[in-house]
Amino acid sequence: IPCTTNMILVFIPLSYRLSNALVPDYYNITLWPRLSCDPNTGLYIFTGQCTMEFECVKETNLILIHSNKLNYTKLDNMHIASIKSTWLQPETQYLVIQLNSKLTQKHKYQLYTNFTGELADDLAGFYRSEYEEDGIRKIVATSQMHPTHARKTFPCFDEPAMKAVFYITLIHPPGTVALSNGMEGDIVNTTIDGVAVTKTKFEPTKKMSTYLLAIVLQAMTIFIMSLLITLCVQIRIWARRTAIEQGQANYALNVTGPILDFFQLYYNISYPLNKSDQIALPDFYFGAMENWGLVTYRETNLLYDPVTSSNRNKETTATIIAHELAHMWFGNLVTLRWWNEVWLNEGFASYVSYLGADHAEPAWNLKDLIILDDVHRVFAVDALTSSHPLSSKEDSIILPGQISEQFDAISYSKGAAVLRMLSDFLSEQVFVQGLNSYLKHFAYSNTVGDDLWHHLQMAVKANNVSLPCPVCEIMNRWVIQMGFPVVTIDTSTGKVSQKHFLLDPESSVTVESPYKYEWLIPVRWMKSGEVQRDIWWLMEKEGMRRGSVWVLANINITGYYRVNYDHGNWESLFAQLNSEHQVIPVINRAQLVDDAFNLARAQMVSTPLALNTTLYLSVETEYMPWQSALDNLDYYYLMLDRTEVYQPMQDYIKKLVTPLFLYFKNMTSDWTHVPDRHTDQYNQVNAIRMACRTGVTECQNLTTRWFKQWMENPQQNLIEPNLRSAVYCSAMAAGDEAEWEFGWSQFKKATVASEASKLMSALACTSNTTLLERYLSYTLNSAMIRKQDATSVITSVASNRLGQSLAWDFVREQWEYMFTQYGVGSFSFASMISGVTARFSTPAELQQLVEFEEKHRAAGFGSATLAVEQALERTRANINWQQKNKQEILDWFNSQTRH
Ligand SMILES: *[C@@H]1O[C@H](CO)[C@@H](O)[C@H](O)[C@H]1NC(C)=O
Ligand SMILES: *[C@@H]1O[C@H](CO)[C@@H](O)[C@H](O)[C@H]1NC(C)=O
Ligand SMILES: *[C@@H]1O[C@H](CO)[C@@H](O)[C@H](O)[C@H]1NC(C)=O
Ligand SMILES: *[C@@H]1O[C@H](CO)[C@@H](O)[C@H](O)[C@H]1NC(C)=O
Ligand SMILES: [Zn+2]
Repeated sequence: IPCTTNMILVFIPLSYRLSNALVPDYYNITLWPRLSCDPNTGLYIFTGQCTMEFECVKETNLILIHSNKLNYTKLDNMHIASIKSTWLQPETQYLVIQLNSKLTQKHKYQLYTNFTGELADDLAGFYRSEYEEDGIRKIVATSQMHPTHARKTFPCFDEPAMKAVFYITLIHPPGTVALSNGMEGDIVNTTIDGVAVTKTKFEPTKKMSTYLLAIVLQAMTIFIMSLLITLCVQIRIWARRTAIEQGQANYALNVTGPILDFFQLYYNISYPLNKSDQIALPDFYFGAMENWGLVTYRETNLLYDPVTSSNRNKETTATIIAHELAHMWFGNLVTLRWWNEVWLNEGFASYVSYLGADHAEPAWNLKDLIILDDVHRVFAVDALTSSHPLSSKEDSIILPGQISEQFDAISYSKGAAVLRMLSDFLSEQVFVQGLNSYLKHFAYSNTVGDDLWHHLQMAVKANNVSLPCPVCEIMNRWVIQMGFPVVTIDTSTGKVSQKHFLLDPESSVTVESPYKYEWLIPVRWMKSGEVQRDIWWLMEKEGMRRGSVWVLANINITGYYRVNYDHGNWESLFAQLNSEHQVIPVINRAQLVDDAFNLARAQMVSTPLALNTTLYLSVETEYMPWQSALDNLDYYYLMLDRTEVYQPMQDYIKKLVTPLFLYFKNMTSDWTHVPDRHTDQYNQVNAIRMACRTGVTECQNLTTRWFKQWMENPQQNLIEPNLRSAVYCSAMAAGDEAEWEFGWSQFKKATVASEASKLMSALACTSNTTLLERYLSYTLNSAMIRKQDATSVITSVASNRLGQSLAWDFVREQWEYMFTQYGVGSFSFASMISGVTARFSTPAELQQLVEFEEKHRAAGFGSATLAVEQALERTRANINWQQKNKQEILDWFNSQTRH
C-alpha cells in the first residue's frame, strides 16, 4: 500500500490550489458501488480504477492530485519517471507523488490507480441515498460532485479550469439502470470474482470540468422519453415508478423541449450534447444540480402532480428546469475559471431561467415575477451592512467551506438583477450578440468575468451603443462593491442624488469601496404618464423637474436601485394611484409600495407615507402590488400583532381585502372555476388567505365548509390544489380538535410530498394552544414528526401569533435535546432560532434572549451561532422601531377605520 506513509520529510507549502504544472487530457474511470453493506465493517463501499493522462506544461518532480477519503490499493506510474515516494495530505485533500527526476515539458504521462471509497449517506461525491417505496427500503447510488467532491470519488485535478474528457464505466447489479453524463454505450452481463454484474460503458463526455460529472444507479427507476427532432436530442425524465405511472413527470417532459429550443436560439449555439437526462431523486439535499447531460433534482422541483400540485409547484418546476438547462451552455460549455465568480454563473442562469420558462409558458407573465422572487428578496439582504460584494478576489476563496459560502442569495438573486439591468441598458439584441461571441470564443474552456465584459464591449462598438464609459467600468461598480443605491429625485429643485441604501439608519459601513459607494445608474423614467425613451445616467446628467404632474423613475425596475422623491411628487403619485392606477406600470405599483415601506424603515420617509401607498389597494386586483404590500405588512404583523395595534390593523386590512375577495368570487363564479391567468391564481390565494385571516365571515364559512366536505368524505379531496395551503390553514384556525385530528391523519397518510408539506404547516395554524403544545411535543418523537421536519414544525408554530411564546418556551426547555440533535451542521437549526425570535420586540423579550445566550454561551450554539447574534441585534432594532413607530401606526390605522 504505497499511499499511507507520511514519513518522508519533504517541505510542501500548504497550498490549496493546484500548481498548473500539469494539465489533464482524459480520465478512464471504472466504478463499482456495492449496494449492500459489508457485514464485517458495516460499511457500504465502492471500488474504482482510474487511468488518467496529463500533460506536463511546467517541469516538476512533484505530482499533486486531489484525493479525499480514498484508500489506494495500487498506484502505478505507467510511463512516469520512477516514484520516490507517495503520500496523502488530508488537510489539502491531495495525493502527492514525488519523483526521482523531473517530468519533461510538453510530454504526456499516465497514472494508474486502484482505490476504495466509502459509499456513505453524506450527500457528497459518490454517495448512497435510501428511501422507502411501497414499504420497501430502496437504495440509490448517486453523486454530487459540485463544488469539490469529485476528489472523493476518484483522484483528479478537481478545479473547474482543469477540463478533461471522461470515459466512464459502471459495474452494477443486473437489472439496475446506470446513468452518467454520456449516453450508455456497451451494456454487457458478466461475472467478476464470481459475482454476476452488468457493466455499462458510457460514451466519452465532452471536455468538461470535474464538478459537472454525474453517476446515478438505481433499481426500479423508469423513465419517459421524447426525441426533440429539431435538435436530434433525446430527452428523458427519470423518476420512481409510481411517480412516472401517475404522470408526475409529464409536465417536465413537455417543457424541456421548448426550453432547450429557446436556449439554442438565444445563445445561437446548438445544444452541445446528444441527450438530456433529468432525474428526480427521492432524497436530495440540494434543489437541483446542472451536471452536463444528467441533471439531478429534488422530487418537488422536477415532478408535478396534476391532481394535487398547485400552480406554484408548476412554476417552480418550469423555472428550475430552465435554470439548470441554461447552465448547459453558460457554465458547462464555457466555465468560469474559479469560484470567486460563482455569481456570474448563478446570476446568469437565474436571470435567463425567467426567459426560458417564459418561452415554455408564454401566458404566465413570468418575466415580471423576477421582481418579487429575486429583486425584493435580495434587496432585503443587500441593504444590511453585513452584505458582501458579488465578486471576490480569486485568492480569498480557497477552502472548500469558503467555496460553499459563495452560493447565497447575493450570487443568485443580485446576480440575476444586475445582469437583467445590463441586458436592458445595452438592449437585448446587443447583449445577446456579445454573449454569443463570448460563448463561441470560449467553448470547452474557461473564462473570467472580464472576458464577458470584453465581448459585450465589442458588441457595443459594433452597434454604436452610446454609454457613459466602457461596460466593465459600469459593471465593476455593481460587482465589486456591495449594496445598492437609493436615487433621490427632488422635483421641486431638479436635484437628483444617490446614496448607499442601508435599512438600519443607525448602521454604518466599515468596509471601504474603491468606488466610494457610488454607482453608475441607468435611469429609465416616466413623466406625467409617458414613458421616456432615453436612459439617463446618474453620474453624468442631472436636473429633473416634475413639470405639470409627476415623475416616476426606474420603470419596470430594470435598474437595481430604490427611488425616493420629494413629498410633492409622492403626493402626485398617490393621486395618480387613487384615480387611475393603471397609468403606472404594474411592476412600478409593486415597487412604490416596497420602496416606501423600506425607505420608512430607513427613516428616509415617514411611516404614514409608507402606509398611504396601501390605500389604493382597495381598487387594485393585480397580484404583484398586493404581494409586495403583504410582504411588507408581514413585518407589521410580526411586530404588532400582540399589541393594541392588532385589532385596528386587522380592521384596516379587512376593509382593503374585502373587495378583492368579492372580485375573485365573481371571477370564479362563486369559487367554481380556476382563474385563467397565472397571477390571478396567485392573487386569489392572497384574497382568501387575508380575508379569512382578518375575519371576513364569508371567507371563513367557505373554507370551513370545504374542509368539512373533505372530512365527511376523506377519499375525495375536492379542494382546489392552488387554494389548499390557505384553506387548510384557515380551517384549522377556525376549527378545533376534530379538524386538527383529521388534518393530522391526512398528513400521516399523504403520499405526495407537496401535499404532506401543506398539511404540516397548516397544523400549526390552530388557535387551540393545547393542540399547539401537543404538536410541539411531537417533534421530540421521530415516529410522529420525521427528524428532518422537526425544526420546520417548531418554526411554523412560532409563526402563529398564539404559538410564538409556546415555541420559545419549548425550545428553551428542550434546548439540550435540540442542540445535540440538530446543533451541528444543520442549516434548519439556524432558521429555527430566527423563526422563534422573529417577533421579539420588547425589552422583556430582549432580556430573555440575553439570559438564554449567557446561559448557553459556554457550550456554544453550533450552526446557529450567527443566528443568535442576529436575533439579539434584530430584537434591539425592533424595539427601536416599535418605540419610534407604534403610536403613529396606531393613529394611522384608527384614522382609516373609525369612520
Ligand atoms: C479505458 O480502460 C479500459 C480498461 O480498463 C480500456 O479497455 C480502454 O481502452 C481504456 N480507454 C482509454 C481511452 O484509455
Ligand atoms: C485493480 O482493480 C482491478 C479491479 O478491481 C483488479 O482486477 C486488479 O487486480 C487490481 N489491481 C491491483 C494491483 O490491486
Ligand atoms: C480507508 O482506510 C481507513 C484507515 O485504515 C479506514 O478507517 C477506512 O474505513 C477505509 N475506507 C474504506 C472505504 O475502506
Ligand atoms: C442482463 O441481465 C439482466 C437481468 O438478468 C437482463 O434483464 C438484461 O436483459 C441482460 N442484458 C444483456 C445485455 O444481456
Ligand atoms: Zn445554478
